[in-house]
Amino acid sequence: MSANMEKPNAVMGWIDERFPLTKLLEEHITKYYAPKNFNIWYYFGALSMLVLVIQIVTGIFLTMNYKPDGAQAFISVEYIMRDVNFGWLIRYMHSTGASMFFVVVYLHMFRGLMYGSYKKPRELLWVFGCLIYVLLMAEAFMGYLLPWGQMSYWGAQVIISLFGAIPFGIGDALTLWLKGDYIVSDATLNRFFALHVIAVPLVLLFLVVAHIMALHEVGSNNPDGIDIKANKNAAGVPKDGIPFHPYYTVKDFMGAIVFLIVFFAIVFFAPEMGGYFLEHANFVPADPLKTPEHIAPVWYFTPFYAILRAVPDKLGGVIAMGAAILVLFVLPWIDRSPVRSIRYRSIWYKILLFTFVGAFIMLGYLGIQPATPLYTFLSRVGTGIYFGFFVGLYLVSKFETTKPLPTRVTA
Ligand code: HEM
Repeated sequence: MSANMEKPNAVMGWIDERFPLTKLLEEHITKYYAPKNFNIWYYFGALSMLVLVIQIVTGIFLTMNYKPDGAQAFISVEYIMRDVNFGWLIRYMHSTGASMFFVVVYLHMFRGLMYGSYKKPRELLWVFGCLIYVLLMAEAFMGYLLPWGQMSYWGAQVIISLFGAIPFGIGDALTLWLKGDYIVSDATLNRFFALHVIAVPLVLLFLVVAHIMALHEVGSNNPDGIDIKANKNAAGVPKDGIPFHPYYTVKDFMGAIVFLIVFFAIVFFAPEMGGYFLEHANFVPADPLKTPEHIAPVWYFTPFYAILRAVPDKLGGVIAMGAAILVLFVLPWIDRSPVRSIRYRSIWYKILLFTFVGAFIMLGYLGIQPATPLYTFLSRVGTGIYFGFFVGLYLVSKFETTKPLPTRVTA
């Protein structure tokens, strides 16, 4: 070996004696054997990580010029957009990143549903994912207050006031505690800033690490939903496994390039996305004395907002909305089927899953619309289907006839 080749090894050796670098790289990258049949659905985990990095980096730069002060917040965002060098780019990357985060996370979760990736032994991995999802919603909600536009202000007002539905005076005390004032005010803005910029991202990062550790402990699932560890070669390597690096690093790199082309096309040509990514009312400064005509959350919250409005009673609506999110956590225990992948499950399961997705999309649409009698009726149907999915899944998974599983992954 030449001197040039020895040098890095010497450096690695020096580090390895003091820190398990090679061990970590091997365990998680070069000797992490992932199933060889990953398809397009397996891009979205890596893409979620990419968006997380984009959000953190652009967020740091935004913080350098943003002022968390009721009198200056809106103007400071305008200043970033107009006067700070490339401020517009950083801000549009961050606002587009927020929506794209939910796009990739929703696709990532759907993959989990399709291939039964939440099933034993990946329950905890799924629960970490659900916790990430809840925190992501909190992060997006608090971030949305910061530009201090009309929709920031009134959106926060509506959502915080929901907690007021909790009886025995608890609700009132809680909303006061959350706002730090009797109305959404400078105090609210300050605490949302602190939580959005440091507290929640820190916990998110911790959870993402836990998510990956849980994944690597049990190994990745795959589109066939079968266990590749059941078939190992003499060296103890799964016969259907390939090292994550270089095979999947290259694949994910390609996915990242395609994603970034789409991402920057939005950033450069349609950053408001017709009012779906940045709502029109948010280009007007917050005015505590003037309620906007139509208050709707950003698109990624609207399925749950529609569920909230579908229930006539306020407390009932809050409970239904909370339950719609919490029920995801117990999915691994609701689905009793021994078969993971949709490929080998019954037609009933397929009908259930696609009806559920259809209802979720319909609820998302309805949550943006004004609450007319027809839309309210449809929201109730959608809510029924949403919860019906979990009941149906329990029953179908107990009684369905599944197809025989292959012993090795299919191409
Ligand atoms: C910041 C958000 C998230 C990040 C960065 C992330 C990252 C990842 C990565 C890198 C993988 C491995 C690659 C892949 O399978 O695509 C993965 C797998 C997985 N994630 Fe996530 N994830 C996130 C959110 C979620 C959420 C919200 C859920 C579900 C509620 C979830 C559930 C899962 C499951 C079940 C797997 C295993 C999939 C399989 O092996 O088939 N993740 N995640």
